[in-house]
Amino acid sequence: MTTRVWDYLREYDSEQKDIMDAVETVFRSGQLVLGESVRSFEAEFAGYHGVGHCVGVDNGTNAIKLGLQAMGVGPGDEVITVSNTAAPTVVAIDSIGARPVFVDVRRDDYLMDTSQVESAITERTRCLLPVHLYGQCVEMEPLERLAARHDLVIFEDCAQAHGARHHGRFAGSMGKAAGFSFYPTKVLGAYGDGGATLTSDDEVERNLRRLRYYGMEKTYYVVETPGHNSRLDELQAEILRRKLRRLDRYVDDRRAVAARYADGLGDTDLVLPALAEGNEHVYYVYVVRHPRRDDIIEALKAYDIQLNISYPWPVHTMTGFAHLGYGTGSLPVTEELAGEIFSLPMYPSLPGDVQDRVISALREVLASL
Ligand SMILES: Cc1ncc(COP(=O)(O)O)c(C=O)c1O
Repeated sequence: MTTRVWDYLREYDSEQKDIMDAVETVFRSGQLVLGESVRSFEAEFAGYHGVGHCVGVDNGTNAIKLGLQAMGVGPGDEVITVSNTAAPTVVAIDSIGARPVFVDVRRDDYLMDTSQVESAITERTRCLLPVHLYGQCVEMEPLERLAARHDLVIFEDCAQAHGARHHGRFAGSMGKAAGFSFYPTKVLGAYGDGGATLTSDDEVERNLRRLRYYGMEKTYYVVETPGHNSRLDELQAEILRRKLRRLDRYVDDRRAVAARYADGLGDTDLVLPALAEGNEHVYYVYVVRHPRRDDIIEALKAYDIQLNISYPWPVHTMTGFAHLGYGTGSLPVTEELAGEIFSLPMYPSLPGDVQDRVISALREVLASL
């Protein structure tokens, strides 16, 4: 049987009663859109992070897009971020007419190289957008100093970092606002699409609520400023409420999977994930690195083990972003990583014996190179 890089079916087996109860609760509630489940989830997700407000939206891309708009970022503004990310980070910035400006990532943990940010700031820069990639946080202190000095806002992309902490602070609690995805593979995943934006700023919250609801605030019939239809679905919200109660356990289970990989592969020449200073990693993906990545992936096909690459094509080299003017060679570390990184099966319910088969297959392949 194929070993999948991500799978939710074992988790569903053990949680089926709760998930189906969530479905029944919503279907019986008499309120299928923006009802009690969305309201409760928003309060509980904000509470988990110790943040003032949560606004549920339809996916993580729109959590970023509406979040930026709600903070007043718009056409012509520059947003400093990374190219080593999921394309939606950049799609969200581009979709509001703002301009993504890229800095490179660090060679050891693949996160934003904050030492490059100051020289990327221009008079048009409005926002710093760190991506807490793979499950651990960007070092926020240098960004916070720069934001204060240059009067910029910080928006955190937390799509891969539910439950991660940096020096004790939760991902999602450090910027002016933060966007989460609840795409099914995520550390907190729905049974479909979903997203949320966190903020402790009352005005940003008000703007978000309006933006996700056509631009309407007081009554259905009056648009104050044109917005979108980007609501979190009631059904997904109720499922997410149930799963939020288990988030810490999911994270513990992911950490146990990561520890087993470290035990089983620590003496090979694979480069394993590095933990950045002050971080508590949640291992959304378990990214390893090897100069002969493509040979390893090819050889592992014989073992029927699925691997993933996050990400094989840096965003700045994609044809859709050619208008930004970044050529190949402009972000050397990001480009180098794209040719060498790959990710191993990782999800909370990954059985130990399946994981051991991945480890021994990898050891055999590495020994044969
Ligand atoms: C870093 C990052 N940002 C944004 C997104 C967008 O989230 P969604 O797929 O829910 O729109 C994702 C997930 O794909 C992501 O991994």
